[in-house]
Amino acid sequence: MRKIEAIVREEDFDRVQKALKQIGIVPMTTYPVKGRGVQGGVPPYELMPKIKIEIVVKDEDVEKVVNTILQNARRGIPGDGKIFILPVYEAIRIRTGEKGNDALY
Ligand SMILES: Nc1ncnc2c1ncn2[C@@H]1O[C@H](COP(=O)(O)OP(=O)(O)OP(=O)(O)O)[C@@H](O)[C@H]1O
Ligand SMILES: [Mg+2]
Repeated sequence: MRKIEAIVREEDFDRVQKALKQIGIVPMTTYPVKGRGVQGGVPPYELMPKIKIEIVVKDEDVEKVVNTILQNARRGIPGDGKIFILPVYEAIRIRTGEKGNDALY
């Protein structure tokens, strides 16, 4: 399992989440964040608002999820966002006790 953390523009988030749903990736956690990349903000703002999306996916789904985010969040200009991919040790669905891939979706 991998956790995909994607930080995207606020205005692109709805398109990204809809596209993920279309490919069958429904569960996600999102939250508003403020951050900066290599350009260090946009004067006079030190930090810019973005949306962070977290999705824990099966190993075999990493590529299609990343490609879907790229296709729907890339404008080709600075500030488009970033994707981080982390290993996940375990997932457990509280209602049933299912573990691993079975607990995801
Ligand atoms: N190395 C990093 N660590 C943590 N968060 C980061 C990092 N790089 C970017 N971010 C987060 O991603 C958001 C978007 O980053 P951004 O798209 O500006 O990246 P970038 O590396 O500057 O690329 P670009 O040159 O395309 O702007 C930032 O506002 C910040 O929240
Ligand atoms: Mg940047």
